[in-house]
Amino acid sequence: MLVQTITPNASYEFAADVRSGLTKPGQKELLSKYLYDDIGSALFEVISHLPEYGLTRADERLLRRHGPDIVERLATPVAVAELGSGSGRKTRHVLEALCRRQRTAYYPIEISPSALAMCERELRDIESISILGFEREYLDGLLEVAAQRSRGHHLLVLFLGSTIGNFHRPAGIRFLNEVRRILQPGDSLLLGPDLEKSNAQLLRAYDDELGVTAAFNLNLLARINRELDADFDLAQFAHVARINHEDRSVEMHLRSRCRQIVNIPVAELEVEFQENETIWTESSHKYSPEEVFPMARSAGFRCEAQWIDEQWPFAENLLIAE
Ligand SMILES: C[S@@+](CC[C@H](N)C(=O)[O-])C[C@H]1O[C@@H](n2cnc3c(N)ncnc32)[C@H](O)[C@@H]1O
Repeated sequence: MLVQTITPNASYEFAADVRSGLTKPGQKELLSKYLYDDIGSALFEVISHLPEYGLTRADERLLRRHGPDIVERLATPVAVAELGSGSGRKTRHVLEALCRRQRTAYYPIEISPSALAMCERELRDIESISILGFEREYLDGLLEVAAQRSRGHHLLVLFLGSTIGNFHRPAGIRFLNEVRRILQPGDSLLLGPDLEKSNAQLLRAYDDELGVTAAFNLNLLARINRELDADFDLAQFAHVARINHEDRSVEMHLRSRCRQIVNIPVAELEVEFQENETIWTESSHKYSPEEVFPMARSAGFRCEAQWIDEQWPFAENLLIAE
């Protein structure tokens, strides 16, 4: 696979974001995109196999079962761009169905180089596929893919695994609007949000028995130690998953077990934590199946079809740009 990379200011940006997140008045925070370095991407892959985390399996079941139907409904010829592809394991079902009809260009867009590499290894054996990965943020990557599209080709954008849930609802709608602005009428977006379920089920999914999700979360502090020369003592922080009822989301936090001071030299920062103070690292918003329709409409899409998994409430939505 060819990969287009850009990373000249990555560590400067990381330091600036860590500095602004940890000096925020009130709730300290770190951006969830930084969870995905090489170790974070590998840990996320393990999470997707955990018995407690039914989300990825539900997404995959829907794609396996309905892949041919999804492809039937697309305007062709079509190229495929995937926002935050991760390992691309589930995407195989859509790509195989598509490659039976046409030669297919597939463009995974990822900030994690190791996820891009996993994705290529996972999908390169599909017949009639060409893969060009973009190591970019979602919209920057999509703009480049759209600029390269061949005349007369449509685009199918995949946004799977409930990654839309990492945005606050209004920001999620703004993001869909941005995606729509890059697309042309007749292009499509396959959007997979996770649906509401019991609090107990959600808390298990984001705080598994083996502690893999805890390691995934704590790795963010380890990453700051590795890349920004910081001195976080990981044993002095605990992973916490909590329900935010008002936002209908599960939040991940890192709770300081004691009062402590941490130095982050590359970010020119010394930061104090009170006992039990937390750093908010990720939110995963949960949706009702019906709320996807107005959300899609307000962003300039119509919902062509929706499929819901019966074992783990999760919805695959095929949205067509109007
Ligand atoms: C929740 S994981 C989902 C992975 C995969 N789509 C799945 O369904 O299993 C989110 C993925 O998006 C990538 N990612 C996170 N923020 C990103 C951003 N701003 N731009 C591009 N990729 C991003 C991460 O590296 C990660 O692989």
